[in-house]
Amino acid sequence: MGLNEERGRTGRHDADRGRRTFLQLAGLGGLALAGGLDRALAQPAPASPIKIGSIGAGRMGSALGELFVKAGYPVMFSSRHPDEIKPLAARLGPLAQVGTVDQAIAFGEVIVMVVPYTALDEIGKAHGPALASKPLVLDICNPIARRDGDGVVKWVDEQGGAGLASAKLLPGSHIVRAFNAISYRKVVGDAHRAPTLVGVPIAGDDKKAIALAEEIIRKMGFDPVLVGGLAMGKYLVPGTPLAEEHSAEEIRKIAAGLH
Ligand SMILES: NC(=O)c1ccc[n+]([C@@H]2O[C@H](COP(=O)([O-])OP(=O)(O)OC[C@H]3O[C@@H](n4cnc5c(N)ncnc54)[C@H](OP(=O)(O)O)[C@@H]3O)[C@@H](O)[C@H]2O)c1
Repeated sequence: MGLNEERGRTGRHDADRGRRTFLQLAGLGGLALAGGLDRALAQPAPASPIKIGSIGAGRMGSALGELFVKAGYPVMFSSRHPDEIKPLAARLGPLAQVGTVDQAIAFGEVIVMVVPYTALDEIGKAHGPALASKPLVLDICNPIARRDGDGVVKWVDEQGGAGLASAKLLPGSHIVRAFNAISYRKVVGDAHRAPTLVGVPIAGDDKKAIALAEEIIRKMGFDPVLVGGLAMGKYLVPGTPLAEEHSAEEIRKIAAGLH
């Protein structure tokens, strides 16, 4: 028997002895025989999941919220009428809860903005500093003429598109645009698609916020693709070549032709 092998045996014996003592002390011998504790000891402690506050819980907010919950994130859904979204939280189970906009902003380490574009102005004015203190604000919102009005769409264009306009409405926030042009009808079914994941083009200026957004999007079952800074957010709206479902490779090819 080699020295290393012997050391290994000795080490194992020591470890076994320590574990037996622990089991006797804890009175958990039966569990160990069943293999339960062995398995539990082998599992690293799960990292504490990031809490997400969703501002908006309509068609897209509830679809994305479902994906956050499925990925293991605690989510507080909010709107101006939180009682109306209680059935959503009840359907999604114990990781989901409902609150006011104030409560969701206080709860979330990450905030998801999924409201009509016009609401961003009001929310930015009421909660700007709180939002700016978060490492990530995921901006799903689009300026849509038939809902938000031609004036809003024109103003957004004048700012250089939806990414730069959102940064004006939420000053100091670490914004990443994402999921702007995948329909709420499809996004839940698109998650974890095999054999090729659906890509999610994202745009942002803050490296830490981008890294956090990428981590969350991967856990949701998509392949994030950074297409550029917030200035590229003008392409992350419905109706552009990046809209709807593409693989990450397709997104990279399309984005290479956009400026
Ligand atoms: N639908 C899609 O497939 C899709 C896809 C990609 C991106 N988006 C974008 O996502 C955003 C939401 O779209 P949606 O289709 O989910 O709209 P929606 O179904 O009308 O939901 C809007 C949500 O925002 C809340 N809300 C509105 N004004 C608010 C305010 N001032 N403060 C707080 N909450 C407010 C609404 O609740 P209360 O009225 O009760 O407050 C509701 O929960 C839009 O910007 C849209 O362009 C949508």
